[in-house]
Amino acid sequence: ATTWLIVPAAGQGKRMGAALPKQYLTLTGAPILAITLARLHAALPHARLVLCLDEQDRWFDPAWVPFTRWQRVSGGAERMDSVLNALQAIDAAGDDVVLVHDVARPCVSVEDLCALEQAAKQYAGGALLAMPVADTMKRESRDGTSARTESRDGLWHALTPQGFRYALLCQALGHARKHETLVTDEASAVEALGHRPKLVSGRRDNLKVTHPDDLALAAAILAAQREQSRT
Ligand code: CTP
Ligand code: MG
Repeated sequence: ATTWLIVPAAGQGKRMGAALPKQYLTLTGAPILAITLARLHAALPHARLVLCLDEQDRWFDPAWVPFTRWQRVSGGAERMDSVLNALQAIDAAGDDVVLVHDVARPCVSVEDLCALEQAAKQYAGGALLAMPVADTMKRESRDGTSARTESRDGLWHALTPQGFRYALLCQALGHARKHETLVTDEASAVEALGHRPKLVSGRRDNLKVTHPDDLALAAAILAAQREQSRT
């Protein structure tokens, strides 16, 4: 079966507030989009890439795509719409595995990508990279004070990639669109159908570049990872 790789990259980066979308900002000498695609290709060279780009995008350069088999599709209003456009554009078999990875996560490791692909193939409900919550969690009351402490037992942060069989992901996102449920990741749409995606414990440095102060953090992570891979 084929492995498909959907990379939503049609966001505006509003929280970053830069002059151009955050995926085109430079980190350690290359645009974030190019770094992310290089990581994905290092781990999954056999995958077929589907890149979701805004129709008005003026910055994308196809020279940044290391995959031999790839296509671009138009982004949608929300991340889910971009992913749905990709699903509709591809000629996949129902049991092909589809991995979805945010372009804004350039620090994802090759090891985690390989582990996630394996788990997505193995588990009927699919799989997602995730990490256990480390901080103590507070429930806010209306006046901005802390009403109580929530147990963090069994709580995880959802990361990407997330991977599912093509048929299941189409069904789940189709269901979410029909019922106008706000889904911020694929796993939540799959859970809504009663399936249980496998939580795959991932590295803690798989940061989503979101706010301006994430740039220095991501650059430091990439530098540290390169240092480690040399030793
Ligand atoms: N994305 C997309 N299509 C959209 C919105 C987001 O493909 N309509 C992508 C982004 O490019 C990003 C991923 O979904 O890779 C996660 O979204 P997020 O981190 O929120 O990025 P932005 O939407 O660009 O940032 P912001 O919410 O701050 O505007
Ligand atoms: Mg967004």
